[in-house]
Amino acid sequence: MIIPLPIKISQHHLCFLSILWLFLAILSHATQYNIECIREEREALLQFKRGIQEDHCGILSSWGGHEDDGGCCKWRGIICNNLTGHVMAINLGGIEAGNDHHCLEGRVTTSLLKLKHLKYLDLSFNNFLGQPIPNFISSLANLEHLNLSNSGFTGKIPHEFGNLSHLTSLDLSNNKLVVKSLGWLSRLTSLSVVNLSDIDLSEVQDWLQIVTNLPFLEVLKMDSCYLPSTIPSSLSYKNSSSTLRFLSLAYNSFGDPSIFQWLFNSSGVSTHLVHLDLCDNSLPGSIPSGFRKMHSLSYLDLSSNAFEGHIPNYFGDMHSLSHLDLSANNLSGSISSCFKNMQSLSYLDVSGNLLGGQIPEMISSLKHLIHLDLSWNNFHGRVPKTIGKLCSLQFLELSYNNLTGDLTDVIQILSVCSHKSLRFFGLENNHFWGTIPNTIETF
Ligand SMILES: *[C@@H]1O[C@H](CO)[C@@H](O)[C@H](O)[C@H]1NC(C)=O
Ligand SMILES: *[C@@H]1O[C@H](CO)[C@@H](O)[C@H](O)[C@H]1NC(C)=O
Ligand SMILES: *[C@@H]1O[C@H](CO)[C@@H](O)[C@H](O)[C@H]1NC(C)=O
Ligand SMILES: *[C@@H]1O[C@H](CO)[C@@H](O)[C@H](O)[C@H]1NC(C)=O
Ligand SMILES: *[C@@H]1O[C@H](CO)[C@@H](O)[C@H](O)[C@H]1NC(C)=O
Ligand SMILES: *[C@@H]1O[C@H](CO)[C@@H](O)[C@H](O)[C@H]1NC(C)=O
Ligand SMILES: *[C@@H]1O[C@H](CO)[C@@H](O)[C@H](O)[C@H]1NC(C)=O
Ligand SMILES: *[C@@H]1O[C@H](CO)[C@@H](O)[C@H](O)[C@H]1NC(C)=O
Repeated sequence: MIIPLPIKISQHHLCFLSILWLFLAILSHATQYNIECIREEREALLQFKRGIQEDHCGILSSWGGHEDDGGCCKWRGIICNNLTGHVMAINLGGIEAGNDHHCLEGRVTTSLLKLKHLKYLDLSFNNFLGQPIPNFISSLANLEHLNLSNSGFTGKIPHEFGNLSHLTSLDLSNNKLVVKSLGWLSRLTSLSVVNLSDIDLSEVQDWLQIVTNLPFLEVLKMDSCYLPSTIPSSLSYKNSSSTLRFLSLAYNSFGDPSIFQWLFNSSGVSTHLVHLDLCDNSLPGSIPSGFRKMHSLSYLDLSSNAFEGHIPNYFGDMHSLSHLDLSANNLSGSISSCFKNMQSLSYLDVSGNLLGGQIPEMISSLKHLIHLDLSWNNFHGRVPKTIGKLCSLQFLELSYNNLTGDLTDVIQILSVCSHKSLRFFGLENNHFWGTIPNTIETF
């Protein structure tokens, strides 16, 4: 766009324009100055680059070259403090390479130690070729966010990590690490997010004590860690409000239900927890009644355990629950009074149990259901007409039951409303008769 110059420029205008020019000049000088990176830090990054043997995605191609390339602050994955110019963040994580390649392959050089102001270090989903986690990371005293997940590190976690007292988020998941003690973790009292999934913690008897003493912990994921199930007798149960909102301890093969002793005795935890995943832990016996008090729970996964007996009626009163997975257990009985008042429920999976009786008519009160899986049970009788009122349903799986009726009727029922949203339905291995009508194509 061309702005026509005024034909006459008055004294007044000139003065204004020159002040404006001066202002712009100062501003542009200031921003240039601000984003210029510190020479020593630039050198440290170039040294890091030299430690990378393969860069399958060309991530580091913008790094280096000429002195006048804008400084390291413009390099991919680098963020500088806009006032001091110090490198604040290295974000080279989570980039897809395709063909099973990791983007970066090589070693992490100690030169990063020169980045004294680093707050954010993400090297996840690269391949550091089975090297140990570099010890020097523990000297990056300002680090707040450390993500080394899926990076091909092996060996020990340096206990000096306990020095990273500003760390709020730590993700070391999916590395072949051996851990004998989590003592260092107990010193990281600023932590709010911790992910240690897929790390063998079978020797860490006091893991629960350590994580329950982290005062600001909100999110904890320790899936597939071979966690010992025993609850230390010295464990204190906190009645005060806990900060923990998200707890995932899936695939640990606990084998006994002592985890519940902690969960339900710590009223602060049980009343504030929003997300709980305990799938695949060989948890035996009946579903404990402690869930009754978990008023904030929105996501509950108890699938692939050894629960038996009836689904407790109180589940129906868990108004906040939106995702419930009880699949692959040994639950029996009818479900006619289990899910009455679960207005928020959008995902319900009870497949792979021994549940029987009829599919209850009241299923239609679960108005927000998107995913309903009743397959691999002993449900009999007809598909209730009310199921057609589930207008948000996208996934309906009724296969491997003993349901009866004319398929034409079933399709008729679904065509009331569900068909608008439905993407999948399974009816196989029941005792339906008739054939699926052609109208199915309009689904
Ligand atoms: C400078 O950085 C701070 C904190 O990272 C940010 O809030 C602010 O918007 C930035 N200022 C400019 C001019 O980019
Ligand atoms: C760590 O990085 C991976 C890949 O980028 C990402 O999926 C994950 O959410 C990150 N972890 C945390 C705690 O932010
Ligand atoms: C780091 O922690 C170790 C013990 O784990 C301690 O001996 C050392 O002095 C600490 N270093 C710093 C810089 O705080
Ligand atoms: C580790 O767990 C946290 C919390 O659930 C999550 O945000 C993060 O994405 C997980 N990391 C990976 C690599 O999936
Ligand atoms: C927590 O509260 C329950 C009653 O609500 C009480 O029996 C128990 O002793 C309390 N525990 C602690 C550690 O204060
Ligand atoms: C609470 O802890 C006590 C003692 O450790 C135990 O006997 C009781 O069964 C626990 N309560 C629950 C609900 O697990
Ligand atoms: C269910 O119970 C049967 C018989 O008691 C047992 O063989 C089977 O392993 C149990 N299944 C699960 C998932 O616990
Ligand atoms: C299935 O239903 C038929 C009658 O419709 C009944 O004879 C049969 O025993 C039932 N099978 C099971 C496993 O419930």
